[in-house]
Amino acid sequence: MKQDTKIIHGYEMIDEYTGAASIPKFQASTFHQKDIFSNQKFVYSRFGNPTISAAENAVSCLENGDYGLAFSSGMAAISSVLLLLSAGEHIILCNDIYGGTYCIVRDFLKRFGIEVTFVDEENIDEWEEQIKENTKMIYIETPSNPLLKITDIKKIAQIAKNHDLLSICDNTFMTPYYQKPLDLGVDVVIHSATKFLNGHSDVVAGFVVTNNKELEKKIRLQQINLGGILGVEDAWLLMRGLKTLSVRMEKSEKSARAIAKYLSSHPKVKKVYHPSLAEHKGKKIQENQADGYGSVLSFELMSQRQVVQLFNSLRYPLVAVSLGGVESIVSYPWSMSHGAMSPYEKEKRGVTESLVRFSVGIENLEDLILDLDQALNSIE
Ligand SMILES: Cc1ncc(COP(=O)(O)O)c(C=O)c1O
Repeated sequence: MKQDTKIIHGYEMIDEYTGAASIPKFQASTFHQKDIFSNQKFVYSRFGNPTISAAENAVSCLENGDYGLAFSSGMAAISSVLLLLSAGEHIILCNDIYGGTYCIVRDFLKRFGIEVTFVDEENIDEWEEQIKENTKMIYIETPSNPLLKITDIKKIAQIAKNHDLLSICDNTFMTPYYQKPLDLGVDVVIHSATKFLNGHSDVVAGFVVTNNKELEKKIRLQQINLGGILGVEDAWLLMRGLKTLSVRMEKSEKSARAIAKYLSSHPKVKKVYHPSLAEHKGKKIQENQADGYGSVLSFELMSQRQVVQLFNSLRYPLVAVSLGGVESIVSYPWSMSHGAMSPYEKEKRGVTESLVRFSVGIENLEDLILDLDQALNSIE
């Protein structure tokens, strides 16, 4: 079954009792137990709910995973996985990382006595060099947020296997439509489903997918006991959004490639970051491990003032935190996704005051380019 067919027919999406064309919303917190000693599948919605289970099966199926777990946000998914670590253990993460993940690591893991090392994601040797006796996890995000750096997933997964470490990949930017980290050897895939999986900027959700039964058991306990479960309504909306993943991804990715090219030749743009560009360091790796380049790109103007002018002049994109919606979204990583980092940490990572992140939506490409053109030409 090809990927676009799988998105529609690869998992249970018809109600088995009524034939309804969408899984119903089982809007219940608890379930009547006919026999208190029987092992009923659903007893209380924090432990499991038919609508939420259907969403978990849908996302795990698309990732070629055996087990899916839904969370109330991408951050709930990430923290449930990171909190598998115990005091005295060590984790290695990529430098260019989503700001929220950076905050958990800095503000929570360190407080619990967990050692943290950030490495240059593009330098495979550095990952291996940083492994210590107490290292337990390796965490990647590729393409990275916001600089679209590419990490070689297969090589990282192999390093993790060689050293008996857990490998984790945040697959939010690519989605399983373009990239399947489990197939490349990673142990755990994480999603902010708030982004492309849902695709309509109306749900906050997260997922974890794995093929490892033991791991699933442990993360399920985190999900149940830390309590960051997905709501029923959001699970249903997520499944609704997911059905159009292939058409949304195809259209926005094609436009992103064209916009990256257009921006690269604009005199007001200092630098463009998108793995489709010939000069992108990770282009080859991206082509080996994914079927597309993704719909998010970043670019540098000359100053913060120019960013403000650009944002004020753009007609179509939302100026907002987030990405992956049907509508184009421009963000300012300096104060938004990476706002919690110190200026020093941001500069060190290349998140500058003149960096713009552009999540390309499914609007008409010519309209988007004309809009960018008028906005760029208006800045001083
Ligand atoms: C790559 C990535 N991972 C995780 C998250 C966190 O997801 P959420 O906002 O759904 O908690 C984000 C949010 O922007 C993200 O961009």
